[in-house]
Amino acid sequence: MSRRLDQTPLAYQSGFRNHFASEALPSALPQGQNSPQRCAYGLYAEQLTGSAFTAPRSHNLRSWLYRIRPSVAQSAYRPLEHGGLATAPLSRPAADPNQMRWDPAPLPEAATDFIDGLATIAVNGDAGTQAGCGVHVYACNQDMTERFFYNADGELLIVPQLGTLRLGTEFGALEVGNGEIAVIPRGVKFQVRISEGDQARGYVCENYGSPLELPGLGPIGANGLANPRDFQSPVAAYEDLEGDFELVAKFSGALWATRLDHSPLDVVAWHGNVAPYKYDLANFNTINTVSFDHPDPSIFTVLTSASDTEGMANIDFVIFPPRWMVADNTFRPPYFHRNLMSEFMGLIHGEYDAKAEGFLPGGASLHNCMSPHGPDAETFEKASDASLEPQYQGATLAFMFESRYVFQPTEKALAADFRQRDYVDVWKGLKSHFDPTRP
Ligand SMILES: [Fe+2]
Repeated sequence: MSRRLDQTPLAYQSGFRNHFASEALPSALPQGQNSPQRCAYGLYAEQLTGSAFTAPRSHNLRSWLYRIRPSVAQSAYRPLEHGGLATAPLSRPAADPNQMRWDPAPLPEAATDFIDGLATIAVNGDAGTQAGCGVHVYACNQDMTERFFYNADGELLIVPQLGTLRLGTEFGALEVGNGEIAVIPRGVKFQVRISEGDQARGYVCENYGSPLELPGLGPIGANGLANPRDFQSPVAAYEDLEGDFELVAKFSGALWATRLDHSPLDVVAWHGNVAPYKYDLANFNTINTVSFDHPDPSIFTVLTSASDTEGMANIDFVIFPPRWMVADNTFRPPYFHRNLMSEFMGLIHGEYDAKAEGFLPGGASLHNCMSPHGPDAETFEKASDASLEPQYQGATLAFMFESRYVFQPTEKALAADFRQRDYVDVWKGLKSHFDPTRP
């Protein structure tokens, strides 16, 4: 009797990148060694590494998978066309200093699964040197049924905006909806299903660089921001299916496909610290000023991918969650700024406090290195006169992929119908209030 992962009840184990051990059949994990001469139940042992073998112990990532067939039981890869995906570096050399904004990507009318529904908005760095990231949106209305996916170019941070995704992975199943995120490590095979008749849309950060980790807390102390115990990884669950399946790989900037005569989600047991995980952003412990001024938005960092320069992230994943605003004598919306780091923003739900209108859930904005931005004219006028009683900024959840590398928008994103070509005009009404006679 064949067994299917999409019908397995969801179950999680808590902790951030713990050394988990999980088995779907009793005693499927070997005791005391990783690759015994014969594994229980006739399984194959296979190691998946998420770091170089010799990475320091604090950053050493690997899991052992005990599976029905090893991953090499596949046919040759052949190139697979995909019109919407791009990888850094783009052949077009220059990025663009213009501030940019997009409406939500339209939902597809034709049958479209998660892979086909991916479209790249911008990329930075260079996937080949493991620096930077690709920023994609997805919009889909179909389950992946006979196909599976893995990404050799980077790990995938998935930020759903519309619909719930059920992710069947080699490590078990997890479900993520609006307000949650999921991370699929580099190389992990998975399949995306959506509720029947549903539509799904969201954002993906394809992190070419070092795997996302929790930021250091510095003077904040031992508690705050995202707590390790609120991260959830699936327990081992497998399917034993034979048939004609396609495994799609993203490798070196292109898609490739290979045929399989079985489902690759056939891992019966695993242990280690490489595994997919999910996190509910409502669990983020937001820390902010209680006197005056703004801490920098780094105070809202959920996860960070380090670069080789300390303190300059390859990518920070930052959120602007519901929070109390209590500062005295302070202009409360985000201030006007020009930053060294480049910022891609999206809106998960609600309204963002720096913009009166035009920044919609599912939409996006891009402010590259040193390109000025900040509140629009309407927000500036309102916030300058607002009474400064405590105020709960409740209905909002925005996020930012912030990077040391300048983002290059793709030709398609630049030409998209849903790009707001007049975005810069939101600052047009900011007039001079200067009067040298009035201190
Ligand atoms: Fe900004």
